[in-house]
Amino acid sequence: MPIVTSTEMFKKAYEGGYAIGAFNVNNMEIIQGITEAAAETRSPLILQVSAGARKYAKHVYLMKLVEAAEADTGLPICLHLDHGENFEVCKSCIDGGFTSVMIDGSKHPFEDNIALTKQVVDYAHAHGVVVEGELGRLEGVEDDVVVSAENSSYTDPAQVEEFVSRTGVDSLAIAIGTSHGAYKFKPGVKPQLRFDILKEVEKRLPGFPIVLHGASSVIPEFVETINAYGGKLNDAIGVPEDMLREAARMAVCKINIDSDLRLALTAGVRKHLAENPANFDPRQYLIPGRDNIRDLVRHKITDVLGSNDRI
Ligand code: G3H
Ligand code: 13P
Ligand code: ZN
Repeated sequence: MPIVTSTEMFKKAYEGGYAIGAFNVNNMEIIQGITEAAAETRSPLILQVSAGARKYAKHVYLMKLVEAAEADTGLPICLHLDHGENFEVCKSCIDGGFTSVMIDGSKHPFEDNIALTKQVVDYAHAHGVVVEGELGRLEGVEDDVVVSAENSSYTDPAQVEEFVSRTGVDSLAIAIGTSHGAYKFKPGVKPQLRFDILKEVEKRLPGFPIVLHGASSVIPEFVETINAYGGKLNDAIGVPEDMLREAARMAVCKINIDSDLRLALTAGVRKHLAENPANFDPRQYLIPGRDNIRDLVRHKITDVLGSNDRI
């Protein structure tokens, strides 16, 4: 099966009350860990690449690695650009074989966001590629750009119908209180998401796939391992998994996970190197990192997203 768009995945996920995991990839070990778990659990999959990942690994390497993962597993994989900043980066990914792009115009005023998103949609659809847009702004760090709490904003449900109909986007990312990175909520304060906004968006856009960014749970086991072996991650807090389960049952069809993968890989590598100080073979110290990613993704698919046994 060639690399696919997310159209069919989202239709089934919406109807079935589950979500597809969209996992950020930067190298071979991350791709192998994720796809091994998805193949084991028979789950459709979105692998997503940020501008930073393209800069780190080069587009062609990531493209070929994802093609290799598809050939190795036979999984339906959608290859998606995460947080495309402008038309040029989206065009470059569309021309370079991606099946899905996100144009993130959320930092622009409403009319400018619509114009930019529509420009990308027109080009993408003419090339058989689907587009994710964003309304509302998440707090946190994306590609070295820090969005402060004051500059973040919840999605206004009153804008979603106009945005979707004027742009023609295929899915919409909304801001309901999640954020990027490992520090999503203040210590001692009960994490809360604006499910009322999600409900209102769902009512206004029946059947339309919604995307949740910043959805890592910051698994305590990995944070504790990192800290036990010389790391310093104080007060890291993620989205409680019950909230992700609830979102997946609702209109959320795509759940973005990056930080959890980074923590899983780092925990495995740190522990291995601390316990084997004489080792300097990357093939040995990357294995526990890759295994942690596989176990994490298996857990997400079967215990949180519900996308297992859907192919
Ligand atoms: O939303 C941002 C993702 O976590 C990607 O992060 O830009 O550092 O690759 P990155
Ligand atoms: P996390 O930092 O919560 O993993 O979010 C990832 C994300 O939204 C990628 O677009
Ligand atoms: Zn994101």
